[in-house]
This record gives sequence, C-alpha cells and structure tokens, in this order.
Amino acid sequence: MSYSRPSYSREMLENIATKVGTPFWLLDAAVLRKRIGEIKSVAEPAGIQVRYAMKALSATRVLQEMRDAGMWIDAVSGNEVLRALHAGFPAGQEPPVIVLTADVFRGNALEVVLKKNILPNIGSPGMIRVLAEAGYHGDIAVRINPGFGHGHVNACDTGGPSSKHGIWYTHLGEAVAEAQRHGMRVVMLHAHIGSGPKITELLQNLRRLAREYATLLPQFPDVNAVSLGGGIPHTYKESDPPVDISPLRELFAEAKSELEKATNRPIRVEIEPGRYFVAPCATLVTRVTDVKKTETNPKGPGRTFAMVDAGFVDLIRPAMYGSYHRMTVVGRGQTNAEQDIVVAGPLCESGDVFTRDASELLAPRRLPKPEPGDLLCIHDGGAYGYVMSSNYNSIGRAPQVWLEPDGNLRLISRRETVEDLLRIETDEAL
Ligand SMILES: Cc1ncc(COP(=O)(O)O)c(C=O)c1O
Repeated sequence: MSYSRPSYSREMLENIATKVGTPFWLLDAAVLRKRIGEIKSVAEPAGIQVRYAMKALSATRVLQEMRDAGMWIDAVSGNEVLRALHAGFPAGQEPPVIVLTADVFRGNALEVVLKKNILPNIGSPGMIRVLAEAGYHGDIAVRINPGFGHGHVNACDTGGPSSKHGIWYTHLGEAVAEAQRHGMRVVMLHAHIGSGPKITELLQNLRRLAREYATLLPQFPDVNAVSLGGGIPHTYKESDPPVDISPLRELFAEAKSELEKATNRPIRVEIEPGRYFVAPCATLVTRVTDVKKTETNPKGPGRTFAMVDAGFVDLIRPAMYGSYHRMTVVGRGQTNAEQDIVVAGPLCESGDVFTRDASELLAPRRLPKPEPGDLLCIHDGGAYGYVMSSNYNSIGRAPQVWLEPDGNLRLISRRETVEDLLRIETDEAL
C-alpha cells in the first residue's frame, strides 16, 4: 500500500503554535481516513468485522471517525468503554459492538460490564469467578494465549510462555468448565499475537492462529465469533518500504471459510488493529529551545543536542522501547547541512531523549542542524503516543489539534493546567 508521508507548512504550524503553544499534537483527518479505507479494503471483501483497538488513540474525535466508518470497538478498561459510549457506540451484546478485553477487572470495569451489558473478554480463569460473584451470568469471550506470537520488541509480544495475556491454550478446558458452573456461555474466542512485527511474520502467525481455531472450534458449540487480534505493523523508518497489507484480504477470506467449514455454521471473524489505523495520523510538534554541545573525553564522544520542549511525558515510545520516529525540522534551520543530532527534552531525567534505539541511550539522528526557535516535528506518533502521555514533572498533557483536509482546524483537547492536576487532590478523612 502506498504511504505518502504528510508534511505541514511552517505557516500553518506556527499559526497553531501561536494559538495553543508548543508542544502540541496535530491529528490529520485525511491520513486517518486513508488508513480506515485501507483496512476496510482488506476486511470487507472477506466478510470480516473490524474493531478498533481504541487504546492506541482514544480521542473522541478519532472514535467518532471509527464509528462513522462502521468499526466496532475493543476496549481494555471500564473508562475506555465509557469513552466509546460517549463517542456514540452502542452498548449491549446484540451485537457486541463494544468488547471489554481485560487481564484484570480494575476500577469500574466490572460495574461497566454489568450496567452497560458489555461482552467481557476474559484473560484468566479467575475472572469468571469474579464475574459470577458480581452477579454476571451472561455470555463471555475468552482470550487465549496460543503459545506463539511476536511483537516489534519483546515487550509487545503477546503470545507465548512469557506473555501475561490470556489463558494458555491447553488450560482452556478448565475455563470452560468454570464458565459452565456459573451458567455462562463462551461465545467468542480471541487471541492477539503481538503488536507490530514484520508483516511476513504476522501473516504466518495469523494463518497458524486460524488453523488452531479450526481445530478448537468443534469443541465450542456456542462460539459464534473468533478474533484474530490486531498487530498490523506500521513502517516508522523512512528507509524501510511501506507495509503491503493487501495479502490480508485473501488470508481473511480463507480463514473465514476454513472456520465455517470446520464448524458448519456462520462464524463472525474479527480483527482489531490499533496501530495501523492511527500511527501516521498524529505528529508531535515541538519547539527547539536551544542547540548545545558536549566535547569528546575519555568517557565518550561529544554530541550536539537539540533541546526541545516536548519530552517523554508527551511521547514515551522512544524512552520505553527505543522506538524510532521520523523527525523533520521546520524553520530557519531546515536547509542547514545535516549533522548527527541528539534530540532531548525538558524532563529531569537523562533518558528524556527522542533519538534512542533499543540498546543505546543516544542514537544521534542525521538532521539539518536546527536553529533555536525552529519547530521540530516528531512524526508517526498517533499510536500509543498521546494515550501514554503522563503528568510527570507536573507539566500537563499537550493539546490535540484536529486538521481537516480543507485546512479547518479544531482544538479537540486543551493543554492540561496545574488546576487540572490539583483538582483531584483532597484532604478527606477516611
Ligand atoms: C487485545 C489487543 N487487541 C488489539 C491490540 C492492537 O494491537 P496493534 O496496535 O498492534 O494493532 C492490542 C495491543 O496490544 C491488544 O492488546
């Protein structure tokens, strides 16, 4: 599939910066809609139901786009379900437009399942007991750890002995027996086998998963749906070829027909991508506040640092997994000669560096040497970007700005203030 990387004019970015300050997130509706269209083009001809794994980017505006495009929702907390309802997705299980996938029922998750009649997708046998004790005796989905899978880093590997997710496939019988004891029907089997591996690996693993389901399904007479999970990778590096998702069309069609043949009944086959939908649609726009150097000494080589006003409170992926994000300089320095630049943020942490890799704290990037005052765009931050932002150093989350193809701009979340942070602090007797 082609992927033309978005680029934004200095005039537009400075105009937004004047209104909302820096850093800010720019969400591009055209890029999001293109990705929705691509997923639909492989799912619809194969008769596959798509859910959006909303954990990737849960802004109401994004959810509304998904709803309008006919996507369903994979939520992972009670509050994500409430967000989805707020964005206009229907509650209930006929059909289960929202599923709550959980490893643990935290906070209001159980209450939301009960009150809104949401299909719970349980990840451990004990959760069945917890549901029953809370008075739930309806249908359930079961998340399986099929024993294999792969992510873009080990931390994103969601299948295999080291994964905390789901019920190990050979222990399924116990879970089913427990469900029966409590009058619950298992109506859906689910597995998510890793986030963002190489597409060839994903294709292999999805085929294997479909075969495993075909073997399992005859033992599950009430199951009417299976989920193949998410995991479709996005190409972050400009030197890597764009991902071609078109082979998924045939794979999905074959999986559906194999599963229906194995069971002799209609089976709803689902997928639930997060990253592929949203990764390229959001750019973190930050201001270069200074450019400074260290000198070579026996401890190591000297470096050039571009200091920017965004940090891992805004985008944690580089600090967390050494993830690569494309960067562009917008301003006077954009035509300067390229140099090895370390891009670092404002936080009181040496690891607050955007140019890292999985093994190195500093992996300097070839960039035109920016001038203080320039903007630096950190691209492809839509998936697991804003949603993982934090309040560390009491800085407050950056605002999100929505860009329509005609240039229309909307502020869809404002910058968090100290008043927002202090609002939850109390001094109550318990
Ligand atoms: C249960 C589940 N479904 C779907 C996804 C979405 O994965 P991705 O963003 O790689 O498509 C995740 C992410 O880890 C997940 O845990």
